[in-house]
This record gives sequence, C-alpha cells and structure tokens, in this order.
Amino acid sequence: TAKHILDSIEAQFQLSQDDLITITKQFLDDFRLGLSEYNHPMAMIPTFVTGVPDGSETGTFLALDLGGTNLRVCEVHLLGDGEFTLKQQKYRVSEALKTGEASALFADSVDAFLTEHASSPTTAPPDPFAVSSRSIDLLDPHAGSALPLGLTFSFPVEQTALDKGTILTWTKGFAAKNAVGHDVVQLLQDAFDRKHLHVRCVALVNDTVGTLLTRAYTAGGCVLGSIFGTGTNGAYVEKVENLTKLGDSAVRQEGGVMVVNCEWGAFNNTRTVLPTTPFDNKVDRESINPRLQAFEKFISGMYLGEITRNILLSLLDAAPTPLLLNGRASDVLNRHYGLDTAVLSEIEEVWESGRTHFTEVEKLSAEDRSRLERIRSIIIQRLSVDAEFVTLRDAAIFRWAASLVASRAAKLSACAVATVLVQTEHAKLGGGHVPEQEKLTVGVDGSLIEHYPNFNARLRESLRALVGEEVEKRVDIGMAKDGSGVGAALCALMATK
Ligand code: BG6
Ligand code: GLC
Repeated sequence: TAKHILDSIEAQFQLSQDDLITITKQFLDDFRLGLSEYNHPMAMIPTFVTGVPDGSETGTFLALDLGGTNLRVCEVHLLGDGEFTLKQQKYRVSEALKTGEASALFADSVDAFLTEHASSPTTAPPDPFAVSSRSIDLLDPHAGSALPLGLTFSFPVEQTALDKGTILTWTKGFAAKNAVGHDVVQLLQDAFDRKHLHVRCVALVNDTVGTLLTRAYTAGGCVLGSIFGTGTNGAYVEKVENLTKLGDSAVRQEGGVMVVNCEWGAFNNTRTVLPTTPFDNKVDRESINPRLQAFEKFISGMYLGEITRNILLSLLDAAPTPLLLNGRASDVLNRHYGLDTAVLSEIEEVWESGRTHFTEVEKLSAEDRSRLERIRSIIIQRLSVDAEFVTLRDAAIFRWAASLVASRAAKLSACAVATVLVQTEHAKLGGGHVPEQEKLTVGVDGSLIEHYPNFNARLRESLRALVGEEVEKRVDIGMAKDGSGVGAALCALMATK
C-alpha cells in the first residue's frame, strides 16, 4: 500500500543514537589514520597555519575567494579589537569555467579582480584605506613592493607551506582541466603576472580555515571552523605531535599546534557506515565524481535537492498507482539537479514540524491546510508543475521528503562536529564529564546553515546525544559571515610578518 511504501522510505532515513555513535567512532579512526599517513580520501591536511588570531591584528589586505558557487574579490581592513570591514564583489562561476581549462578559470578570476581594483584612481572612492586608490601600484612593477593577497580556495589542496600546495582533486561539480597536480598559488600567480599586476599571492587557505581564523579573530578563540553550504568540511586546531605524517620535519620538531583541514566531505567513501539508500546511490552514480565525497553527498546543499528529487520520482513512478502528482512530473523535476535545495528550504520554512506524509489531509486543521496550500504554490511556481495535478496531499509528501533528507543531513553533520570535540579532548563520545568550563567556540558558514530552517537546531540535538548535555551546552556555534575573505587576509598577515 501507499502507506507501506512511504513508511519504508522513512525507515531508511532514520538514524538511531547507536548509529550516530558508530559513525562517529569510524570518523575518529579515520581522523587518526589521516593524521598519520598521506593519501587517504579524508586527507587531514596540515595547513602550516600554526596558531589562531586573537583579534588584535591590524592591516589591509586583498583576498580572492574561489568558493565553488561564487568567486569573491575582497578588500579587508583588519581594525583590531576583533573588528573588520570588508568590501567585496561577488561573481557567479559559470559552468563553462568550472569544467574548462584551469588557466581560463584563473584568468577570469584575475579579470574580476582587475575590474574591482584597477579602476582609474580618479574614479576611486575617497576612502583613505581603499586599495583602489592605490590602483596605480597594482599595475606599475616599479612602485614599491607588490600588494600581498590571500587566496581562499575551497577545494582539497595538499599544502607544503603557507603559500604552496598541489590541487588533489576537484569537488562540488568542478572539473577544470590541467589543475589537479598543479600548485594552485602558482596557477593564480601566473595569471596575475600575465596581466602584469603588481600583486603577490602570499597565502593559501581553505574556506574552513578562513572560517576558523575569522571566528577566532572576532570571538577571541575558536575550536572548529566548518562549512555547511554547497559542500561540507571542517578545520580545527591539532597538536603537531599528533600529525605524525609530518615525520621529523622541522615544523614537527617545533611542536605547538597546527590547523588541520580535514576534508571530511570524503569521509567513508567506502560507505561502510554511512546509511546509504537507493536514492543516495543514484545521486552518486550520476555525479561527476562517483564513489568520491561520500559524506558530502549526504549533507551538503549541492546534493540534498537531488536526493529528495530521487525520492519524489520514485513515488511518481510507483506502480500500479502513482503516489505523487498523479504521475506527472514537470521539466524541472525531470532535470538532473532540477530540484534546488533552496526550494526544500522554502518548503520547510512554511511548515517544518510534524511528520505528516500520508495522513488524511482532510482531517488536518484549517491552519495546517493553509500551510499545505502555501507549499502547493511553491511547488507550482518553483517547479513549474501544472497546478491541476498538485493536491494538498502532494504538498504534504514534498514537505515530508524534504524534512527526511535535511534532518538526516543535520544529524550526520553532528557526527563530524562531535568527532572534532572528542579528538581535541573537549568531549567524550557518549557523554561524560570533562573537567573544563570554558565556552567551545565553533565558527560556521555556508548557505545550508545560514538559510535552511532548523538545520542548526537539528544538528545540536544530535550533538547532545553524542557528547552529552553538559558539553553541548557550552558549544557556541556562530556564523563567521564573510569568514573566507577575512580568513585569507588574516593568513596573508601571518605570511608577511
Ligand atoms: C562563503 C565563503 O562565505 O561561504 C566561501 O566566502 C565558501 O569561500 C562559502 O565556500 C560556502 O558557502 P556556499 O553555500 O556558497 O557553499
Ligand atoms: C568541499 C571541498 C572543501 C571545502 C568544502 C566546503 O568539500 O573539497 O575543500 O572546504 O567543499 O566549501
């Protein structure tokens, strides 16, 4: 029966506390493996950032932020006291650039940069700090030292220094040619040099590292920086002694701490503990990078819409009687990645609580029926479904599917956060007393955590189940808005010191 089919899908998306603990245990094992050996999918990358800022830092820096969805050109003024101002211009990265030649991608980034910063000095705003008022310097190789720039590059890069690193692989739908295996700083610097720009890329950061550094700058300290957006990942402060894969290199001998970029999107690519359903398998199989970035494909904004679309299509195709939209999809719904995660977010914005899927909508209260009416309009407008085929029951099913997929994502995200807290000895897996009182600051950024209704609350609920209420209460998760650009500036500052 219909109810039977829906219940069985729902069951596949449930995660018990035991499941979450099993996943987190595996996460911890894989963390340790990645810290001890190179060439693991969850790469645990040493970033050569050996401390976090305290808010007192000052200076003016340029930053270029290639995040995945957008390219940002930023000018950052660190004012001290944890304050900063930022001017930025955002450009959407076209599909052609994502999959074309890497040199074109970087040339385009530099062009965007030029548009922003090399405007004629006479048109520059009368801002004493503005880099554009020094635009002549950018183009004149004889005018003093080159302007330092920090690059935020939100993809896996095996770093060998603050300003050196080889691209390991593309993620999030990128596949530009002649990039993997190349030094990303060099690729960018070459593009600057070809345009005779007097700019030097002095530091390279992942967006998670940028987020960590920014939250540390504004909050006075930070344990974890993480992104829940188009992709997902985290960076945290690790003891250098635990980074055994650095061998007896000079930096290891110095001891102290180093920020590690986990690249946790690649956790459990073998899918031994991840709760894979046929809907997830389909997402993976049809993706640009099958069998890679397994964890990311359960969690991040790029994929949640697509998992949901797969559930909905299976209901549409149910035989002998279609269970959705009377069996009629729209062009949008039929299109690969046609259901944007933002649409799920709009739907859950209307009605997040409750679990109605196939309850007789006739028995719902007037208020709930009007909510379903609103969801129905979203489906008609955003997915171009013919109004005549959308019932309130369909609306209820859309809402149910969205919340199944998004809740599972938030729960799994909690496993990653818990892993960092346990690894850094701020928490014990399964709960238990930890002899410290201080706040545990976590910096976050990304479209999912910023906009998806209750993503944060759902994540916290599972975090509590994993590390106990005592620790969870002390965790302060806060947005590090514009974190990547500011983080790149902070890193450029460290590099020029
Ligand atoms: C932005 C950063 O704030 O957040 C990017 O500047 C980062 O570097 C991004 O990748 C993550 O968000 P999303 O949702 O665009 O992936
Ligand atoms: C992907 C990238 C990673 C980045 C994350 C969030 O997982 O591989 O480097 O931090 O997306 O943007």
